[in-house]
Amino acid sequence: MAEYFSEERSVEAVNSRMGEDINPRLARVMASLVKHLHAFAKDVTLTQEEWDLAIGFLTRTGNLCHGERQEFILLSDALGFSMLVDAINNRRPVGATENTVFGPFHVEGAPIREMGENISLDGKGESCLFIGRVLDLDGSPIEGARIDVWSDNSDGFYDVQQPDIQPKWNNRGIFVTGADGCYNFVGIKPVSYPIPDDGPVGQMLASLGRHPYRPAHTHYLVTAEGYQQLVTHTFVGDDPYLESDTVFGVKDTLIAPFKRIDGLTLWRSDFDFILTPMEVAR
Ligand code: BEZ
Ligand code: FE
Repeated sequence: MAEYFSEERSVEAVNSRMGEDINPRLARVMASLVKHLHAFAKDVTLTQEEWDLAIGFLTRTGNLCHGERQEFILLSDALGFSMLVDAINNRRPVGATENTVFGPFHVEGAPIREMGENISLDGKGESCLFIGRVLDLDGSPIEGARIDVWSDNSDGFYDVQQPDIQPKWNNRGIFVTGADGCYNFVGIKPVSYPIPDDGPVGQMLASLGRHPYRPAHTHYLVTAEGYQQLVTHTFVGDDPYLESDTVFGVKDTLIAPFKRIDGLTLWRSDFDFILTPMEVAR
């Protein structure tokens, strides 16, 4: 006999309604979601007013989403959920470069640039030489690796956030390695910036006593045939927000050296990307 809903057996009441011939993965994910969601409400003895507030929050979050703004991803980022899903799906062997959060500011189709080119098109900020190699786990160079790089400008904005102010493709470019696996390009020493905080996620952070800042970083998407895709950043080591990144993206191994080149106003940052072969289990 089917059971009616009760507080004590709320999970069973909902999950027993699932059909028998449904997708088994969907059945597993939904059963667990219902179990944990109900446990959460019971754990905090959720009030009706709090649930109404949450529905309002989620509605405002959804209403803010459009082509250029994804407030739900921002919410997932600020709750550490994006980093958790990324960690579960990108377990890497020791020595391989670690993944971190992708973020909303990557743009497909950046220009392919010559090694050594300057990606800072607005002439702002402190110039920095980014240099290193793309290697496999044995230290051998990887030829034909694509390094797609993007960064904010020295005012803390990506070009897509200021289409009327910054040149298109400012601080973006793709570099393809030769047989030696080496890369080098000129960009800027990145600066810390707040994630978009004029919506519900910003309100949530403020109510939790959290700041919206990310420590200074440069983004990379590194791909090569036969290797797992690497989505990562390098971070500037002395940034005041390193230990309180609002999206939890910092990993020890991703903090790169930034040193002044003697006698020049140029910085230099060395970093090797170590890719994991496709066949290594995640
Ligand atoms: C970023 O680093 O570009 C970023 C990541 C997560 C949320 C917002 C921005
Ligand atoms: Fe960023």
